[in-house]
Amino acid sequence: MMIFTHKSGTLNLAVMTALAAALATGPAFAQAKLKVGLMLPATGTYASLGTAIENGFRLLVAEQGGKLGGREIEYFKVDDESDPAKATDNVNKLVKRDNVDVLIGSVHSGVAMAMAKVAKDTGTVLIVPNAGADAVTGPMCATNIFRSSFSNWQPGYAMGEVMGKKGIKNVVTITWKYAAGDESVRGFKDGLEKNGGKVTKELSLPFPNVEFQALLTEIAAAKPDAVYTFFAGGGAVKFVKDYAAAGLKKSIPLYAAGFLTDGTLEAQGADADGLLTTMHYADSLGTPRDNAFRLAYAKTYKLQPDVYAVQGYDAAQMLATGLAAVKGDITKKAEFSAAIEKAKIDSPRGPFVLSKAHNPVQDFYLRQVKGKENVVIGMASKALADPARGCKL
Ligand code: BEZ
Repeated sequence: MMIFTHKSGTLNLAVMTALAAALATGPAFAQAKLKVGLMLPATGTYASLGTAIENGFRLLVAEQGGKLGGREIEYFKVDDESDPAKATDNVNKLVKRDNVDVLIGSVHSGVAMAMAKVAKDTGTVLIVPNAGADAVTGPMCATNIFRSSFSNWQPGYAMGEVMGKKGIKNVVTITWKYAAGDESVRGFKDGLEKNGGKVTKELSLPFPNVEFQALLTEIAAAKPDAVYTFFAGGGAVKFVKDYAAAGLKKSIPLYAAGFLTDGTLEAQGADADGLLTTMHYADSLGTPRDNAFRLAYAKTYKLQPDVYAVQGYDAAQMLATGLAAVKGDITKKAEFSAAIEKAKIDSPRGPFVLSKAHNPVQDFYLRQVKGKENVVIGMASKALADPARGCKL
């Protein structure tokens, strides 16, 4: 083969050798590492959730030999502190300073909404491995934004149905006052009211405050049939302990979105025993897929996985699916997205597909705490899809 240039007529030997090497090994992007920006909390009440997500993500990458779509992975990390006020600056460090190819994050809904805005404005691929902010797969939905976890509405709705069907009529809710708490309660009310129940009082405190005492006194005075709650991480540990210490566990049944007892049972001890929650994962699924995942996770990290680890693992599976379709060239945005949209993700939680808005359509289990496990005792909602209010794709 003869290659001509407009100046010298032929390329010199050194250039031709370099070109031949490039042609033999593929295009330039296949050589470069894929830059993955992990924006997760490493401090604060959600720190352990961030760690589990990163562990899960890295486990999948390791299982793929350290490469996705033929490209090695290079990580760039920011501790977002679960602080929405710092979120735009933090995500811009990854997008503008580090030039990442893909964003993974975050845990807190307020932080994830800031990430989604930057992702939408810049076209950077974003996979949300936890935060349930309804808006991310609602009004903010976009072809380059995906979620491997849930919408806040989903587990709340599932528990509303369970409690309504049990004939529970009068419920008090208690949660943190921010998108996750508000939307969890909204989903819960949708499910409960459809099944004949009513929320009679909505209690809340600012995130990440854990001074529950005054609100627990209000619950005791209101004497509802039951309480529904959303708390997670360190706050969930304290809430379960305080609820029991106030003597309420014996008198007013406590129900929750599964975050209350996921990754928290060691610290909650007997105070969590018997609690009923709804979630898209459990410790006792017993499927070959989940058993293999749990074994690999336990071997690698000397820890049991939780729902956050699964969501991190599945975020990496979704990324791997998109990258495989474009042979590592994430700039082929349309083909990348189409591959994830078409995929059935082989999750430890059970296989799931994405809705049009890119949120998992998935089963929600009814679980009960037995010892140190969230054990499945039934199906709360099968193939539950988020309503995706306001998403125009
Ligand atoms: C959220 O902010 O969306 C969230 C945080 C922790 C657990 C679940 C949801």
